Amino acid sequence: MIKTLTEIIRGRLGDLDFDVRISDDPERGHLSTNAAFVLAKANQSSPMEMAEELRSHLRKHAPSNYFRKIEVVEPGFVNVWLTPEAIKGEFRKIAKARVWGKGVKKKETVIVEYSAPNIAKAMHVGHLRSTIIGDALANAFEFMGYGVVRWNYIGDWGTQFGKLIVAYELWGDKEKINKNPLGELGKLYVKFHEEAKEHPELEERAQKEFKKLEGGDKTNRKLWHWFKKISLKEFSKTYNKLGVRFNTQIGESFFEKELKSIIDMLVEKGLAKESEGALMIDLDAFGLPPAMARKSDGATLYLTRDLANIRYRIDEYKPSQILYVVANEQTLHFSQVFATASLLGFIGGKEQEVKPVHIKFGLVLGEEGKKFSSREGKGVKLEEMIETSIKLADKILEDRKSNFRKAELKEISRVIGIGAIKYNDLSQNRMSDIVFNWEKMLSFEGNSAPYLQYTYARLKGILKKAKGIPKLDVSALEEGRDSAVVMKLAEFPEVLSRVIENYMPHYLANYLYELAKEINSFYQSEPVLSSSAKLRGVRLNLVKESSEVLKVGLKLLGIEVVEKM
Ligand code: ARG
Repeated sequence: MIKTLTEIIRGRLGDLDFDVRISDDPERGHLSTNAAFVLAKANQSSPMEMAEELRSHLRKHAPSNYFRKIEVVEPGFVNVWLTPEAIKGEFRKIAKARVWGKGVKKKETVIVEYSAPNIAKAMHVGHLRSTIIGDALANAFEFMGYGVVRWNYIGDWGTQFGKLIVAYELWGDKEKINKNPLGELGKLYVKFHEEAKEHPELEERAQKEFKKLEGGDKTNRKLWHWFKKISLKEFSKTYNKLGVRFNTQIGESFFEKELKSIIDMLVEKGLAKESEGALMIDLDAFGLPPAMARKSDGATLYLTRDLANIRYRIDEYKPSQILYVVANEQTLHFSQVFATASLLGFIGGKEQEVKPVHIKFGLVLGEEGKKFSSREGKGVKLEEMIETSIKLADKILEDRKSNFRKAELKEISRVIGIGAIKYNDLSQNRMSDIVFNWEKMLSFEGNSAPYLQYTYARLKGILKKAKGIPKLDVSALEEGRDSAVVMKLAEFPEVLSRVIENYMPHYLANYLYELAKEINSFYQSEPVLSSSAKLRGVRLNLVKESSEVLKVGLKLLGIEVVEKM
């Protein structure tokens, strides 16, 4: 649909950039384009004149019986209406080709890095956002035919491990830690900082222990391995709950052995200079403050590891894009990494185009608009949030007095609870700060996961009652609401393209919401099961395809559905 129109316009505009959109307002046609403005600018003529010209171009090149009406409106928009036949054709395509199952084989690899928690610390809501957004993007790319590497870049290296080792040696209790790894290790870390205020010599001791760890000291390595192992085990419990998976969990420590070569390269190319013992990279040309590649005590840094990491990713996977799904707060860091990587020639070379992108996102706010925190003022733990959401979902289901069995109820609350957390995040522009409003998130009405899941379950209910769905015969498709549903369905692949082009999962979430509203109002006003045979058949197919798109779309967002709700 959009594709057809785009291709025809492309015949006139060539390489110029223009938009084709689905109209929100039926008065303005099915589709509309800004192509006349683009053409006017290029030819230095008036948009209205160009719009008229485009109208004749469209008439001439459209497939037969495709446009019902082409309208030119001030100051130069072109709106088109499809014929009923064209819409029927769209429906046939949807039902037969399963446009959304295929995707476009691009043979390109995209690395999507997300989650990336730090070992010995509980994940916080920032990691949750990264996990949810990254998973949705990875799913969308995969679905569209890209090769996707899902990368959990574990924070498992850095001077903090010197501190942790000291704290463990002084106050650690192995048994306690094994029982509650992230909680206890977190406490030890906090205690270290408290004690170090009174006893600054602890800092020095920690530096020494980290040096020993870097140097391969057996005892310290063993401790570090243990911290890592028990942390990863805890993380994987969370990932299982969220239904998130990775292809690799190679973390920061892996790049340890490559750091020297990065430092040497920086020095050899004259990109970094010693300053008070530290090694600094001048990024003036990029309008960025200098970046530190090595500290005065010789320890390397987060940034240096990211440089080794980007080189490794490019060599190993030859990706066309590397997406870093990391909070806004690290904007400067990634600008510096990408700038240095281009100075080093890792990116920006002609031969191998690779585009690194920092996929930023905002904070998570509590209901009063403050940074999310628990009563004690500490960052809320992700595990607690998941539990809370599931419990609240359970309560809502109980209040609805449905007659599900216990096991069913448990499963439905899980699906709703987790879906609500994910959808709350993914339905908002990732750049904005998001708010946790449990009531809204878990409501069965409005732009929420339960609303979409419930819509799906109701559609499934209709299909079940129908006892068999006839093969699609589009000839009975009516104009008006029936056709409106088809047009909405036909948008799905276009929406997915926009999601991966702009790295914006909320386009998909909002599309699914619109589809749900459309199909809900459709079956509230139009009889499905009680229609005459031919119409009933076509409408059942509408219901079926809508349920399918809802299910597939939600799955791409990482959200499950249930057949009954
Ligand atoms: N572990 C880091 C943190 O929790 C995030 C890592 C981001 N990714 C990267 N390539 N630097 O803040």
